[in-house]
Amino acid sequence: MTQTQSLPPSPAARRGTELPRIMGTHRPSEPVVRALTGSDWPGYSTVMGRAFEDDPVMNFVISAPPPVAPRAGRLLTALAASHGPEAIALGAFAESGTLHGAACWTTPDHWRLPTSAYLRFAPRLISTVGIRSMLRVSVLAAIEKRHPSEPHYYLAAIGTEPKHQGTGVGSALMRPMIERCDEEGIGAYLESSKKTNLAFYHSFGFELREELVLKGGPTMYLMWRDPR
Ligand SMILES: CC(C)(COP(=O)(O)OP(=O)(O)OC[C@H]1O[C@@H](n2cnc3c(N)ncnc32)[C@H](O)[C@@H]1OP(=O)(O)O)[C@@H](O)C(=O)NCCC(=O)NCCS
Repeated sequence: MTQTQSLPPSPAARRGTELPRIMGTHRPSEPVVRALTGSDWPGYSTVMGRAFEDDPVMNFVISAPPPVAPRAGRLLTALAASHGPEAIALGAFAESGTLHGAACWTTPDHWRLPTSAYLRFAPRLISTVGIRSMLRVSVLAAIEKRHPSEPHYYLAAIGTEPKHQGTGVGSALMRPMIERCDEEGIGAYLESSKKTNLAFYHSFGFELREELVLKGGPTMYLMWRDPR
């Protein structure tokens, strides 16, 4: 099992109803997964930017000149920050302390960004993705409309540094939140922008609910996981 340090408290813990978590044994080859702190965010931006450089949604949304990676990184960092304390941002670190991958989840009932966050975020969004992208961002509203109403943890983003993909980083990032979903009996939801990722998510119990073709853009794969 992955070593997991100081995950942000779950809603159950905030209510004082969560039992202490017994952590498994850490194998040296596995990354250490822990919640991100302030000094980790530049690394988050870099790693996520590289991971999402060829992402169909990023390349659909970003109309500003290349390179895509730094813009994608800034966009994903700003999105995570906009969720405030409801974001559960995790990093997978090598023994050297280098960030190899990261994920951002949101707590149940907090997946939707409040309007105030959109307003705060708008100037940064325009400078990051380009003014022409604003029309495309509106196309993404179709994804929001399909968002499930049942309580769930939402996987907003997950990415592994490309040279470390396929080495277990993504799985190490998924496991603690999947365990939390099962402990709390709460579902999980994500939108994949790549068909090739479906097998990865399927291995954690996610099932494809719908394929959503965005107007003039890529197809999104909407996936749900029932707790076990
Ligand atoms: C999806 C992603 C996070 C998976 O992370 P990872 O570190 O490569 O995952 P792991 O090494 O733990 O892989 C676990 C298993 O899934 C498989 N897998 C992972 N990504 C895969 C992909 N894109 N296609 C096919 N198989 C994949 C691995 O081969 C491995 O299989 P195995 O257990 O049989 O060996 C990573 O590929 C990534 O960052 N992709 C780019 C960004 C992205 O698409 N993010 C998700 C947006 S929806």
